[in-house]
Amino acid sequence: MLKKWWQREVIYQIYPKSFNDSNHDGIGDIKGITQKLDYLKTLGITMVWICPVFKSPMADNGYDISDFYQLNPEFGDMEDLDELILEAKEKGIKIVLDLVINHTSDEHPWFQDLLENPKSSKYRDYYILKQGKEGQPPTNWRSVFGGSVWEPLEGTDEYYFHSFHVKQPDLNWENEHVRKELYEVVNYWLEKGIAGFRVDAITFIKKDQRFENLPADGVDGLGKCTKKTRNQPGIEKFLHELNRETFSKYNCVTIGEAPGVPYDQYGDYIGEDGYFSMIFDFKYADLDVASGSEWFRRTDWNVQELKRMIFKSQLEIQKVGWGANFLENHDQNRSLSKYIKEADNRNFYSATMLAALFINLRGTPFIYQGQEIGMTNFERESIEEFDDISSIDQYYRAMEEGFSAEEALHFMNLRSRDNSRTPFHWNSEENGGFSKKRPWLGMNENYTLINVEKQENDPNSILNFYKEIIKVRQSNEPLIYGEIEPLLENNSTVIAYKRRLQGEEIDCYFNFSSENQKVDIDLSCYDVLLNNYKGAAIPAQDFKLYPYQSLLLSKKGMVLS
Ligand code: GLC
Ligand code: CA
Repeated sequence: MLKKWWQREVIYQIYPKSFNDSNHDGIGDIKGITQKLDYLKTLGITMVWICPVFKSPMADNGYDISDFYQLNPEFGDMEDLDELILEAKEKGIKIVLDLVINHTSDEHPWFQDLLENPKSSKYRDYYILKQGKEGQPPTNWRSVFGGSVWEPLEGTDEYYFHSFHVKQPDLNWENEHVRKELYEVVNYWLEKGIAGFRVDAITFIKKDQRFENLPADGVDGLGKCTKKTRNQPGIEKFLHELNRETFSKYNCVTIGEAPGVPYDQYGDYIGEDGYFSMIFDFKYADLDVASGSEWFRRTDWNVQELKRMIFKSQLEIQKVGWGANFLENHDQNRSLSKYIKEADNRNFYSATMLAALFINLRGTPFIYQGQEIGMTNFERESIEEFDDISSIDQYYRAMEEGFSAEEALHFMNLRSRDNSRTPFHWNSEENGGFSKKRPWLGMNENYTLINVEKQENDPNSILNFYKEIIKVRQSNEPLIYGEIEPLLENNSTVIAYKRRLQGEEIDCYFNFSSENQKVDIDLSCYDVLLNNYKGAAIPAQDFKLYPYQSLLLSKKGMVLS
């Protein structure tokens, strides 16, 4: 594969509502991001992905857009964004925005016109409308955020379609006028000088046009819509066209949120003429639950399984293209809380082991805000304390499926998207230095223990080790462009791999357990590139990895670039 500029990037994901509040109204904003560019630069970040900042009633915190060309006033105005893009550029940081084009908000003027003139609106064909069947919705499909995908369109016997929330009606991609409007949106923002887009829920744009019922898979009598709405045959036509009319005209990066694509189709998505530069693979992020929309069906996973999934993903992607690697995002719980099962083991070593393991995989690494200081899940005592629409829906569905209220709350505490959306911890002051006003979402109470200021002053902090991991990746080309090859495949607690580029080799070992692990390595043949046990001696004989140790070794005598 030819080298591409975006393979070198280290991307930081910002959830703007919760990052930094510059005007102290309790809500993070664009100016707040600009103020923290130096923090990101010092961390080693080269590109920032900002979750949606467009005009929105915020039912899904910006993933419900009511005007594609305006910013939400609480985040700032166009001048603020231009300033951010410019200042970031001066510091060598690129900006990527979030492109949400599967649906709009129900408050978008197109949909508003439809509500006002349900029978004659010229936007009728912009959305998906269908007649009900004998007083029932057209199909029994369940939306991702719960309940039917169909909502009655008042004044008619029709229903409108929403894959996600009722306030997020899906656009009708079968209509070429809709597609044209959307391409204009994409090109408008790319002209503005952003580096590219993270493309939201893009595998949902094609629906099975037969609109037939599914076998029920829950006591609500509904079936998960994704079987008929995700990566459906015919989507290739839309994605080719999207790419041709927009992305391909720019030297931009595109990161597809593309759940539901089987590995044998990855080539279409990320191959040489693929639709996107890279996509996220969610398979291992969801290893603790049945699916992203059923957190109440827990699985009992182990390290061996995680390891198998990571390598499967890496090797499948390596065959055809390039991947986007992440431990956390705004839809996930915190990685320390998820991957390190016992609370006692969530510490510097396990946090840095996870970081080094993921950042050195083949692909572009993504770091989600707060991950770099080891932020954790935050337990809430009642469902009223949640903001995330998905958690509220899943709480009630869990009970409908027979779990007690207590169990349902427990599942939400483990998996809620609010876990990663609590305001960022800058220091030990009130509200963690995020804002002088009470934040829009309750702080995680451990902010006095886990925060940036504390860690900046501690040479042995998670934050400072992240800087080191990033520096090591960026200064060793095999860790960026090299092939990946699994090592120690039968070891059930150590995850290990080799990165190889034109004869240069770096071996990476991660002890995913709280006990010493014996591994057969002859250290005399290697130089140590990275080690999260700084002071501890590395025994030459009878070599063992310490609990949650991460060790990167380069073969001696090789000239590393
Ligand atoms: C994506 C986003 C998620 C959002 C959903 C609907 O999965 O990451 O936050 O709720 O799409 O837009
Ligand atoms: Ca603000």
